[in-house]
Amino acid sequence: MFKNLLIIGGQDKNENRELIGELYLEKGKIYTIVGPTGSGKTQLIEDIECLSDGFGLTKRKILIDDGISPQHLRSSYQNRLVSHLSQNMHFILDMSVINFLKMRLKCTNFPDDIKSVEKILEYANELSGEKILGHFSLTTLSGGQSRALMIADVAINGTTPIILIDEIENAGIDRLRAMKILVDSDKIVLVVTHDPLLALYGHKRIVMKNGGISKIINRNPYELSLLKQLHSINKVTETIRDDLRRGKQLEKECFYGL
Ligand SMILES: Nc1ncnc2c1ncn2[C@@H]1O[C@H](COP(=O)(O)OP(=O)(O)OP(=O)(O)O)[C@@H](O)[C@H]1O
Ligand SMILES: [Mg+2]
Repeated sequence: MFKNLLIIGGQDKNENRELIGELYLEKGKIYTIVGPTGSGKTQLIEDIECLSDGFGLTKRKILIDDGISPQHLRSSYQNRLVSHLSQNMHFILDMSVINFLKMRLKCTNFPDDIKSVEKILEYANELSGEKILGHFSLTTLSGGQSRALMIADVAINGTTPIILIDEIENAGIDRLRAMKILVDSDKIVLVVTHDPLLALYGHKRIVMKNGGISKIINRNPYELSLLKQLHSINKVTETIRDDLRRGKQLEKECFYGL
């Protein structure tokens, strides 16, 4: 299996060369992709997903271990390198959740094991609000439920060494829990985010501007301590959000630690 991924810079929206010429992505590291709306974050992970060959919109090249990306990896399901949890996710397949998960297990050479199916459902239900049941049709799942199911599937059943996540925060699921479930020390994880908590989660931040990679920032010790503080603030926000979702009237006596 490969050790790292190399992005060779292409061009931004004005067809100027990207400011970062080369970027190595290493296994075991989390990279967050930040930048204003429309700055090319989703485009970057789509380039990685299709192992872009330098002829696409951005002219980026994605190489494996410095070599030319092998053609068969682009199309082969079994040898797939990338799992992509995209920004907008809805199933159009009319199949029950349980049959879908069984089919996914078969595709990835896992045994058709009911315990794995149950575990994926259990994980998904930890992330999503309303419970997903095995007999539900995929087409009836909400966007958040669909993403929760796919996150759980990728975490348990996923064999791909690269995981791409586009804006986990908008899915209405427990995003920190999802990150913990997904982050595995042997994978390259790239997370597009507008959320400061998730942005600081990454060992490195890739900063996008006008369609190009403009900066790479290593997380410094101050940012790491800030991340811990944001965790505490997040706990309060989560509690208030849960209470609101449950239809509770918030009173002074609720005491949220503020
Ligand atoms: N280097 C580039 N050259 C030309 N077009 C580009 C380039 N990068 C991105 N684009 C295009 O710009 C548009 C916006 O990019 P993208 O969807 O990746 O933005 P985003 O940062 O993900 O925005 P959001 O935060 O709203 O999701 C898309 O149509 C995309 O194809
Ligand atoms: Mg986007």
